[in-house]
Amino acid sequence: MYVVTNTIRVPAAHASHVEAGFSGSAERMRQVPGCTGFLFLKEDSDTDPCVYTALTQWEDEAAFTTWLASDQFRQSHSGANDRASGGEVRRYTVIAASA
Ligand code: HEM
Repeated sequence: MYVVTNTIRVPAAHASHVEAGFSGSAERMRQVPGCTGFLFLKEDSDTDPCVYTALTQWEDEAAFTTWLASDQFRQSHSGANDRASGGEVRRYTVIAASA
């Protein structure tokens, strides 16, 4: 199992717009080969900008890099830098999990 997170910062004034952009993401990520889980998380604090993390779970690293190179990734990120900033990507090897 492999996990990749991306943390973005969004001005509070644009938060609802960005949340709407992710509204169909769970269904889309369910269709991606090798993607075994997806969460879009909003940090529980009152900061402006708001801090969000997209957490993705994969069968293996190759499944993630295939999605990263896919048209779906390109399409879902066209203009993403206009809506959010500070994309901070972290990759993890899973040592233990409950599910
Ligand atoms: C580093 C630059 C990145 C920025 C600024 C960014 C920002 C965004 C934004 C704003 C959206 C919503 C698009 C919309 O409004 O329709 C999005 C979608 C998404 N992002 Fe990123 N992202 C970046 C890279 C990544 C990376 C490396 C990952 C890997 C975990 C990732 C995971 C996702 C996922 C899973 C979605 C939903 C895709 C879908 O709905 O099909 N992002 N991103």
